Amino acid sequence: MESQHSKLSVIGAGSVGTAVAYASLINGSARNVAIYDLNTTKVEAEVLDLAHGSQFFSPSSVTGGSNLSVVEGSDVVVITAGARQKPGQTRLDLAEANTAIMRDLMPKLVKRAPDAVYVIVTNPCDVLTVAAQQVVDLPPNRILSSGTVLDTSRLRWKIAQLAGVSSSSVHAMIVGEHGDSEFAVWSTAKIGGVPITDWTDVDGNQPFTPGAREYLESETVHAAYKVIEGKGATNYAIGVSCDRIVRAILADSHEVLPVSGILNDYRGISGVAMSVPCVVDKNGIQRQLDFSMDDSELAKFHASAEELRASAASLGL
Ligand SMILES: NC(=O)c1ccc[n+]([C@@H]2O[C@H](COP(=O)([O-])OP(=O)(O)OC[C@H]3O[C@@H](n4cnc5c(N)ncnc54)[C@H](O)[C@@H]3O)[C@@H](O)[C@H]2O)c1
Repeated sequence: MESQHSKLSVIGAGSVGTAVAYASLINGSARNVAIYDLNTTKVEAEVLDLAHGSQFFSPSSVTGGSNLSVVEGSDVVVITAGARQKPGQTRLDLAEANTAIMRDLMPKLVKRAPDAVYVIVTNPCDVLTVAAQQVVDLPPNRILSSGTVLDTSRLRWKIAQLAGVSSSSVHAMIVGEHGDSEFAVWSTAKIGGVPITDWTDVDGNQPFTPGAREYLESETVHAAYKVIEGKGATNYAIGVSCDRIVRAILADSHEVLPVSGILNDYRGISGVAMSVPCVVDKNGIQRQLDFSMDDSELAKFHASAEELRASAASLGL
């Protein structure tokens, strides 16, 4: 799977960064995995803990520290560094803090790893993709965010449970903002080639009623809140989702994934980063596919773009 000299760097050794590194080591996605964090004690301990499992990983090395030189030679850089929401802090306060981190980090990272593809996970990931693009001189295809890859996996799992099939047999997608205005593209959702609205269970019932679809979509959109309430963060599912993006880049697999990149006259939308199905290759986003949506989905798509445009404007982007 991995190319012989491939290098993944993960910025931020918190719950998400370490889950990305762990998934990549287990899957052998990169030959070298490096982790960088401002917190020296934490990053050194995380690197040691991961390295202690080396015997059981495919041949990969893991290094890291609090000196940015650890990212040199990276093919992919995944950014998970960021402030966490503190009690009483609004979403906007958090977005402002993480925008400042991104503006500071990106030029330093690009100086050290000029040829890498940058994958932004830190939230608000769509808006931070625009912020990152503004402070460095990289082609737009090389800066993307994990967008709704995780949300799509959450939706497919819920659909698969109701249908009694494997998640890998479900073809359905969440697009738009990675956040409250995201939505499911039901009009083209299928299970094993059967349109979801025609799906019949073994007793002859059709479980995907409008009410059921609304419920599944709402559960997906609000999934993170439930996890955060129970354990303080989401990390395992984003870890494997992000590793899938890393593998698509390093293996140049041309996999279609709903990552978020800046749109340029896409259905009349420009200057906003949001998720649409994209062909992912060694250079990041090879192209954003023009997928079909019905009228109500198209209206949601534009509404999501407007939400993102408003949040970017509130951050002065
Ligand atoms: N896009 C998604 O699907 C998705 C999913 C889950 C979490 N997230 C986001 O990922 C981010 C990280 O979450 P977490 O739970 O790992 O947080 P965390 O607090 O556990 O870890 C963040 C780490 O970033 C480090 N850090 C902060 N500023 C830094 C800087 N300037 N340089 C280097 N390191 C720095 C901190 O020391 C800390 O170790 C959050 O913004 C969260 O909202 C995104």
